[in-house]
Amino acid sequence: MRQPWIVGVSGASGTPYAAAVLRGLLAAGESVDLVVSRAARLTLLDETGDPLRDAHWAEDLRAWLARGADGKRGVFDADVSAVRYWPAGDLAAGPSSGSYPVKGMLIVPASTEAVAGVALGLSKDLLQRAASVTLKERRPLVVAVRETPLNGQTLRHLVTLDDAGAVVLPAAPAFYAGATHIQDLVDFVAGRALDAAGVEHRLYARWRGRLGGGASGER
Ligand SMILES: Cc1cc2nc3c(=O)[nH]c(=O)nc-3n(C[C@H](O)[C@H](O)[C@H](O)COP(=O)(O)O)c2cc1C
Repeated sequence: MRQPWIVGVSGASGTPYAAAVLRGLLAAGESVDLVVSRAARLTLLDETGDPLRDAHWAEDLRAWLARGADGKRGVFDADVSAVRYWPAGDLAAGPSSGSYPVKGMLIVPASTEAVAGVALGLSKDLLQRAASVTLKERRPLVVAVRETPLNGQTLRHLVTLDDAGAVVLPAAPAFYAGATHIQDLVDFVAGRALDAAGVEHRLYARWRGRLGGGASGER
């Protein structure tokens, strides 16, 4: 089995971004170690109506990943067999240690609390610990921060993360790729996160320049 990517889902709004990143990684044949913070379970429940229970994570994750960004069920076919799930309170989990082999980590979406916790090295839960480990091991870390507006404190934390080698990727969709549905806007952000991690995907139509006909429509 390939080394996994850690995906950390924190309690910012934007659980459809996490679902799109997870689907993109799985479609690319990547395996995933998944950590969902306590607050993220609340946002997931709030945004989709879906629970994510430790004891039933595979069933719940399948239901979540099958849902489109517009809330419709059964839009995607989600095979979660390449996902390993770690409870966020499990600080003895594999991703807590630098000796646990992973490719890197994506935090999608990243709350301002997660941003602060990682910037300050707090390790209050497995998500923050795994991110600190990712930085200390000099592995790729993508932080898809979701908050607006941003205060000075968060901006300073984001600079700290950038200085430490993380890619700070605001969850800010663009409109040049011909979006017609909410899912297109979500997939654009998810695709940019996968670009930052160097994972191939077909989530959005790439800009090819005006003479080339603008966004090519290739997906
Ligand atoms: C419905 C809902 C939406 C939220 N949206 C955001 C958000 O977009 N950005 C953010 O930084 N925090 C947001 N929060 C607050 C975080 O969930 C809260 O700060 C939490 O402590 C983050 O914890 P975590 O980083 O451990 O997941 C939201 C909370 C709720 C209930």
